[in-house]
Order: sequence, then C-alpha cells, then structure tokens
Amino acid sequence: MNSTLKIINVVGARPNFMKIAPLVEAMKSRPERIRQLLVHTGQHYDRAMSRAFFEDLGIPAPDINLGVGSGTHAEQTGKVMMAFEQVLFTERPDLVVVVGDVNSTMACTITAKKLAIAVAHVEAGLRSRDMTMPEEINRMCTDVLADFLFTTDTMANDNLLAEGVGRDRIFFVGNVMIDTLMRHKQMAAGLSLLDDLGLSPGQYAVLTLHRPVNVDDPAVLGRIFDALSEISIDIPIVFPIHPRTRKMAQKFGLDRRYIEGGKAEGLWVTDPLGYLQFLRLVMDAKMVLTDSGGIQEETTVLGVPCITLRENTERPITCKVGTNVMVGSDPEKILAAAADVIAGKAKPHRVPDKWDGHAAERIVEILLKAHGA
Ligand code: UD1
Repeated sequence: MNSTLKIINVVGARPNFMKIAPLVEAMKSRPERIRQLLVHTGQHYDRAMSRAFFEDLGIPAPDINLGVGSGTHAEQTGKVMMAFEQVLFTERPDLVVVVGDVNSTMACTITAKKLAIAVAHVEAGLRSRDMTMPEEINRMCTDVLADFLFTTDTMANDNLLAEGVGRDRIFFVGNVMIDTLMRHKQMAAGLSLLDDLGLSPGQYAVLTLHRPVNVDDPAVLGRIFDALSEISIDIPIVFPIHPRTRKMAQKFGLDRRYIEGGKAEGLWVTDPLGYLQFLRLVMDAKMVLTDSGGIQEETTVLGVPCITLRENTERPITCKVGTNVMVGSDPEKILAAAADVIAGKAKPHRVPDKWDGHAAERIVEILLKAHGA
C-alpha cells in the first residue's frame, strides 16, 4: 500500500488565493493518498483582500493563520519565516506547496528547505528581468530552491533551463489560475453587477493599479491619473482600488482630485472587489488597464484587450499570443493604446497551450507519482 503524502499548502496575499483553490480541491479529491493543511501567512488581512476570496472560491478556512500582517520587506519576510518554522516543527509535512511570487512564497520556501522539507513552486520560471521588482527576487530565490518547478508556459521552462536548472525539476503543466477562471466564469456571468452599476457590456473600462513603481511616487501617480482622466472622458473607468494605492493617493493629496470625484468624473472608484464580481466586470469590459501580473493572463483567456502600465512583464506569453500590450507609465503611450482599442483595432490573439482548466490535476498526479504511486 502507498503511504499518505502530507502536504502544507501556503497562501499569503490576494493573488495566491485563486491559484491555491484548484490545488486544494484536487488534493481533497484524493483523501486516500493526500493529507493537506492550508496555512495562511496573513500577509493580506483586510476582508476584501482575503476572506472574500475564500468565500467566493469555496476554499476551506485556513487550518493555521500566521497573522504576520504588513511591514517592510525584511520584517514581513522574517515574521513569516519565524512563524512558519514553528508550524513545520510541529507538522513535519513531506512537502510544502507555494504559489506565485509574493513575499510569503519566498519566505516559506527558504524556511522549508532549511529543514530539508521538499518544496513545489506553482507558477515557476516567470522572469521580468527587472530586479527592482520585489517579486522578481521572490521568484528567483524560490526557483533556485524548489524541488518541483511547475510552469505555465514553455518560455518559463526556457528561463529555468538558461539558469542551469535540471530538466528533471521542470514540469510544464499549464495555469492553475485559469483552472479557477474556467470553473467560475458561468457563476460570475449570472451576477447582476453591471445592472447594479448602470453599465452596459463593452461600454466601460476596468483599472487596477498597485505596483510600488506606479503608486509610490507622486509625480508618476499624478501623471497616470491625468492620462486616465482623459480616457474617462470617452469611456467610464471602473477602478477597484488597492489599499496601498488609496493610502498613497491620500498621502500625496491626489485623492480629492481624482478619487473622490472632481476632475476625473469618469473614474468610478470602488473598494476592492471579490473574485466573482471582478471577473464579472472584466469579462464584458471594453478593455482593462492594469499593472497586475495575473490580470494579464485572465484577459488573454477572456479575449479582452489588456493595456499593462509597466515597462516589462514576467508573462511575455500574454503579449506574444494574447491580448496584452505594454505601455509603462508614459501618458502618451497609455492614451494611444486606449485610443486603438476604442477605435476597434483589436490584436489577434489565442489562448496559450495547456491553459485548459486541468493544471491542478496534472500537478497532483506528478506529485503522487514522485511520492511513489
Ligand atoms: C502584494 C505582493 C504583490 C501582489 C499584491 C496583490 C509582495 C512583495 N507583493 O503587494 O506581488 O501583486 O500583493 O495585492 O509580496 N494593505 C492593507 N490591507 C491588506 C494588505 C495590505 O491595508 O490586507 C496595505 C498596507 O498598507 C500594506 C500595503 O497595503 O503596507 C502593501 O501590502 P503588502 O502585502 O506589503 O504588498 P502589496 O502591495 O499588497
């Protein structure tokens, strides 16, 4: 008889929740082979940034919450490591599964490997080649250490191979975030959100903005807001605002001008939305303007034009075959890209290979086989 594989799944911040959901589900469907525990580091803690996603996605409540909260990078990383080490001492899992590229991802990987516990990294091999991005450091450290590197596309495989990673550690499985999107698309389509907001399909844009490079500098944030207000003269822009961005806009005195009405009357600012509501909004948007990572992938699958307010992306597949274009924070480029979409100049696009809703099942099969199925 095969022995049970004891796994600790780790989540910390908002973009982790949609990635872990299908993995937990796939693991729970194999109770005779897998025992899993879910650990939430508490990196994100506001209801709208955390609990709302557990409810929308039907993720079981975390077995353990480390409650680390916000802080500087070193503080946050250090607190996660100290608290997670205690969990590992007690639970002694066979494997730790981390997803994405947030501080919790790297912190838990280092902690587990120092205790000689195997680590699987889901969404490995993505590289922006921009070392000013904290996520790039998190991705690189995690991939150097992890035993299983599960990739979303073959460009990620190439990145890992070029860094000297052995082929035996790399597994091209597809995209777990797209598993979640496919599972929830129909449910989201049934929501009355557009009617509630008085919006018609294809007649509005969606904006998300939270990267330090865009929101931590008053000149950059002001320039971006100016460009957005100009676009919003032609098309209303719904803007679920990240707590970090709201805080920064308040700090720089930009909130009264742009966020609480005033000049940018077409910017419709809302609190952060839950998963289903946000998906409802994006699936019928004319375009999405964003500096997020995952939204570049979701728009590619939904066939919605995506204008990315960054200079680089760790997800080039979304530009190569998907709907994504990179414009940075230059107002002229932002305006030109939006004008193209409004004028109906859509880019040809297709869905990347293996973004088919079955990535989590592939991952679980590989893990079980490696454990000696
Ligand atoms: C983190 C991730 C980023 C991801 C983003 C999605 C890192 C380095 N960054 O960035 O990759 O794209 O999550 O949201 O891990 N805050 C709250 N409530 C919360 C969480 C945060 O008010 O629940 C505020 C705090 O002021 C905090 C700030 O947001 O200091 C930044 O939070 P933090 O977790 O450090 O990074 P994010 O910008 O959210």
